[in-house]
Amino acid sequence: MKLSTEISGLKMRNPTVLASGVLGETGESLLNVARNGAGAVTTKSIGIKPKKGNKNPTVLETEHGLINAVGLANPGIDEYENEIKIALKSKIPVIGSIFGKDKKEFVYLAKKMGSFGVSAVELNLSCPHAKGYGIEIGDDKKLVYDIVKNLKKSVDIPVFVKISVHTNIVSLAKNIESAKADAIVAVNSLKGMKIDLDLRMPVLSNKIGGYSGPGIKPVGVRTVYEIASSVKIPVIGCGGIMNGEDAVEYMMAGASAVQIGSGVYYRGVDVFRKICKEIKTWMKKNSYKKIDEIVGIGLR
Ligand SMILES: Cc1cc2nc3c(=O)[nH]c(=O)nc-3n(C[C@H](O)[C@H](O)[C@H](O)COP(=O)(O)O)c2cc1C
Repeated sequence: MKLSTEISGLKMRNPTVLASGVLGETGESLLNVARNGAGAVTTKSIGIKPKKGNKNPTVLETEHGLINAVGLANPGIDEYENEIKIALKSKIPVIGSIFGKDKKEFVYLAKKMGSFGVSAVELNLSCPHAKGYGIEIGDDKKLVYDIVKNLKKSVDIPVFVKISVHTNIVSLAKNIESAKADAIVAVNSLKGMKIDLDLRMPVLSNKIGGYSGPGIKPVGVRTVYEIASSVKIPVIGCGGIMNGEDAVEYMMAGASAVQIGSGVYYRGVDVFRKICKEIKTWMKKNSYKKIDEIVGIGLR
C-alpha cells in the first residue's frame, strides 16, 4: 500500500502533516512529531518580532473540541532560525508558517523562512483571535491577491495559503489560484466562545477564540469540497481530523494531504502513525493501492 505523495514538489512519505500552532514552537518538538510518523510538519505561525500572546486561560476544552486564543505567541523570526535548523534534521518537509499585517511583512518573513531552508511557506491569513493579523485579511479578497502575488515574485519555494471559513469561499479560492499560490490549506479554527455560567462572563481572557477539533469537521470537509471543485491547485484539508476515516473523508472531498492539530491533544503525538495505519486498513478493505487514487473521488 502506497501512502507516499507529492504536493508542489514536496515529497511526503504519507499525507499526514502537523498543523500550525500545535507542538510547532521548538525544533525539538517538530523532530518529535517527525519521529512519530508525520509526513511533513508545519511550524507555529511566526511574526517579525517576539509576541507574548494573550493572558491565561488561552486553551480550553469544550463540547466536541477545543477553543484557543493563544494570540500568535512566538519568539520572532530571527530567534526562530535555530529551531528550523533542528527541525530540518528530520529530513521530512518543514513548512514555515508566517503571519503579518501587510504584504511588506509577509514578503520579509517568507524570504527569511526561505533562507532558513524550509520546503514551503504557509501564510496564515486566518487567525480567529489576533486583531490585525487574522481572519480579516482572508476576508479581503484584494488584499489576499496582493500579498500572494508579491510573495510569489519574491521567493522561489512553494507558497501555501491558509484560509478559514469566509463568505464567498469559491471566489476567494479562485483569487488565490490566480495570484499563483501553490496550494490552499483549509480550514483554520472557527471563531468560538465559552461563557462561565457562575462567573457570567467569557472564560477566555481574549473572550473570543478559535474552535477546533471534531465539531468543525463537517465545516472543513464542505469547505475543502467547494475549493477543490473550483480550483486546480492542491488543497490541504484541516479541521477535526482524529482518525484514518476522517482523513479519507477529507481526501475524497479533494484534499491531497491532511493537517492534524487537535488530534495530537486527543490521541497523543503518535496520532500520525495511528492515522496512517487506519488509512491503510481502510484502503485494504476497499481495495485501494495508492493514496492518490482516493483524492477527489467524492467530488460529484
Ligand atoms: C492551540 C492551537 C494553536 C494554534 N495556532 C495556530 C497558529 O499559530 N497558526 C495557524 O495557522 N493555525 C493555528 N491553529 C489552528 C490549527 O492549525 C488548525 O487549523 C485548526 O486547529 C483546525 O484543525 P484541528 O481541528 O485538527 O485542530 C492553532 C490551533 C490550536 C488548537
